[in-house]
Amino acid sequence: MSKNGAPFITFEGGEGSGKSTQVEILNRTLLQADIDVLSLREPGGTPGAEHIRELVLHRDTELWTPVTEALLMSASRSDLVSKRLIPALDKGVWVLCDRFTDSTLAYQGFGHKLGYEAIDALNHFTVSDLKPDLTFVFELNPELGLERAEVRDGAKDRIEAYDINFHRRVAEGFAEVIKRNPDRCISINALLDIDIISKQILQEVDRRFGKQKSASV
Ligand SMILES: Nc1ncnc2c1ncn2[C@@H]1O[C@H](COP(=O)(O)OP(=O)(O)O)[C@@H](O)[C@H]1O
Ligand SMILES: [Mg+2]
Repeated sequence: MSKNGAPFITFEGGEGSGKSTQVEILNRTLLQADIDVLSLREPGGTPGAEHIRELVLHRDTELWTPVTEALLMSASRSDLVSKRLIPALDKGVWVLCDRFTDSTLAYQGFGHKLGYEAIDALNHFTVSDLKPDLTFVFELNPELGLERAEVRDGAKDRIEAYDINFHRRVAEGFAEVIKRNPDRCISINALLDIDIISKQILQEVDRRFGKQKSASV
């Protein structure tokens, strides 16, 4: 898949680690700088993918096997990538995505123990050679993350309801993703204050894409 040079930035990490909070802040900051930006979140983002989101997140924990879950996440992603993500990048629109292929590596590859290589192959089948230009990985002790998510929602979704050892393996999975992709991935200490994290993120975005930022104004 080809793209037109607009930055593609993903936000990854466990439950309640602050991804959506920071996507919203960066989205607002870029809009204020007159940058065309599209913010997406997975699973979902197209009518078909939203149906899949409903299946994956809002049913019983036992309903899907790990392989089925990995395929459903990938099906949702395929729809989103071809219908919205690639068309936006091709038009020069910046794309921020709340979860992407690294979440499948961490959740299904590590959490469900399907293995890094198997999920890496599935990801490649799903998105071909499309890779984020930059990925912020929010690292947080999973107990605290789940607590934050529960305070936020008052209830657990299907994946949040997996046991704590699943979420510990997910955290290990994200650490492995960072280790294998040191240039693309920036580790964010999700214990820091929201405004400190947003400054770190903006600084990194400016450092990497500052030229594109001023060119599009
Ligand atoms: N750095 C932070 N410190 C403390 N609380 C935070 C921080 N970032 C987000 N939160 C809060 O934690 C909860 C989960 O954040 P959210 O952005 O929804 O996480 P995620 O999208 O990763 O699940 C929200 O109630 C949010 O306001
Ligand atoms: Mg979120």
